[in-house]
Amino acid sequence: MEKIIVSTVGKTYPIYIETNLFSKLPGIFKENYSGKKIALVSDSNVFPLYGEKFRSELIKAGFDVVPAVFEAGENQKNFSTLNYLYSILADNFFTRSDIVVALGGGVTGDIAGLAAATFLRGTGFIQIPTSLLAMVDSSIGGKVAVDLPQGKNLVGAFYQPDAVYTDPRLLKTLTDMQFADGMAELLKHGFIRSSKLYNLLTDTIADSQAENPTDILYKTDSASLSLIRNRLEPKIDYIIKESCIIKRDIVEQDEKDNGIRQLLNFGHTIGHAIEKVQNYTGYTHGQAVSIGMYLITLLTEAMNLTRSGEAEKIKSALEIYGLPFTMHDIDIGALIDAIKIDKKARSDKITISYIKEIGKGELLELDIKDLEEKIYGLIKNNTFNT
Ligand SMILES: NC(=O)c1ccc[n+]([C@@H]2O[C@H](COP(=O)([O-])OP(=O)(O)OC[C@H]3O[C@@H](n4cnc5c(N)ncnc54)[C@H](O)[C@@H]3O)[C@@H](O)[C@H]2O)c1
Repeated sequence: MEKIIVSTVGKTYPIYIETNLFSKLPGIFKENYSGKKIALVSDSNVFPLYGEKFRSELIKAGFDVVPAVFEAGENQKNFSTLNYLYSILADNFFTRSDIVVALGGGVTGDIAGLAAATFLRGTGFIQIPTSLLAMVDSSIGGKVAVDLPQGKNLVGAFYQPDAVYTDPRLLKTLTDMQFADGMAELLKHGFIRSSKLYNLLTDTIADSQAENPTDILYKTDSASLSLIRNRLEPKIDYIIKESCIIKRDIVEQDEKDNGIRQLLNFGHTIGHAIEKVQNYTGYTHGQAVSIGMYLITLLTEAMNLTRSGEAEKIKSALEIYGLPFTMHDIDIGALIDAIKIDKKARSDKITISYIKEIGKGELLELDIKDLEEKIYGLIKNNTFNT
């Protein structure tokens, strides 16, 4: 079993990664968390797939388990779901030594984590990520939040989990599009920090294409996506581990997001704004971030901050995984307004994460007005928003 240790100022915790780890968890929980009550937070897709059986195994292992299941979807990452979680914790007399377990994707982890951070000023918190995005990114680093109608992740906390248990086998039940969503954050880690990871994610596909020249790839139809996913599968444990290490190394240097951690926001300033203007029911998080990464790189290339040709590389990498790089039917005025309320904006300035070249992320402070003009200019001169 892979074990990655994350050390932050307040807490040191392990991330365990192993295929089939999930089936061993009731025993592992018995060894480590006996006597604690468990709130099993999951969404309406994941709970029937994994939660029900997990709950009964935990009960067999002697735990008192209270399920807290909410409707799946980003538009449920809100105060109403958070309130529902608080009621369950209060009605079942949870104490600070009991545990909130997040079994699900990034939405489940973010909202369960915020409940754990705030109920009684902090209970135990364990992440069992089930989406690729949650395994490679959101389960690590302690950012927990809910969205407001005014903007994404506007209410949140930094609250590190006690442990993260990752079983790549759970990825099998993701749709190809959900799998692709996780690829967006994985590619992001390659773009900002590791040309090695970027090469692995793009070459694996190119190499196997050379071995199977009759397969038609680089198309976003579902047959191509499944083929690509199959080719990545043998390396997925390693890829998840590499990605966790990249995020761990950044978070350890800047847990509270005042400096280098902002690199992880590559594509997110625009991505979050896209999600917000579509009321969290349009592009998924991974898709919105994909558009954001390409758009910001077109911008910084035009400003001569990024080596020429890198935006094209980003576009090709996104295309491989069926991720979008242009947006449709977005009101640009509303998009700019949403960017202004993003957390990365401070008074009239905003810090953006960009790349000098693949693997080399940088931060840049821009006047919001300047960014606004540049985005308008780019969209006017390109068929970007089709
Ligand atoms: N906290 C952080 O550091 C951080 C980092 C990146 C993203 N995020 C957040 O993560 C969220 C996106 O995460 P996500 O893409 O996992 O969204 P999600 O949790 O909504 O999961 C996507 C879909 O996949 C389903 N699903 C999850 N695991 C499954 C499985 N094994 N089998 C079948 N279906 C499964 C879910 O039910 C959902 O329908 C966003 O809210 C984003 O803001 C947080």
